[in-house]
Amino acid sequence: MRTTDVIFARLSENIVIPAGANKEEAYTSLLPQIEALIAGESDVVAVLASVAAALHQAFGQLWTGFYLVKSDELVLGPFQGPVACMRIAHGKGVCGRAWQSGSTQVVPDVDAFPGHIACSSLSRSEIVVPLLNRQQEVVAVLDIDSIYLNTFDNIDRLYLEILCIKIADQVF
Ligand code: SME
Repeated sequence: MRTTDVIFARLSENIVIPAGANKEEAYTSLLPQIEALIAGESDVVAVLASVAAALHQAFGQLWTGFYLVKSDELVLGPFQGPVACMRIAHGKGVCGRAWQSGSTQVVPDVDAFPGHIACSSLSRSEIVVPLLNRQQEVVAVLDIDSIYLNTFDNIDRLYLEILCIKIADQVF
């Protein structure tokens, strides 16, 4: 048995990612653990807070969290990381664009995204994934920010979209 088969990076009481895992392997390991973590819970804050914490522990990005659609704005929800903007208007910034378009925004360089809202000057790239309710309305967005350029790609898009469908199905 190889060392990597038996050594696990222990991240918390119940979230573990195999040591040396590539991104796809990390998501493949993480998603069932998140599903188990939130299983049976219908409270929006409890679920979003748990998901933000699990993703943040697993990937260690600068900021990981949710904004919730409240009337004509996005309002800050459960998150991990530095303090952030509390309200974002429809269509503004990457989050507002994800809300407006209903589609995932992968931004390799935030300085090249017109209207990007810099909650932290350390942020260099980000991904924002919308969560839709049963009426196909955007009700929240998941935002992950990185201190590095080009952090997010189609692997992140795929697995985070799967995760957001699961979360939305459970709590919205
Ligand atoms: N950068 C985001 C704003 C949210 S913070 O980065 C947490 C945006 O442009 O929408």
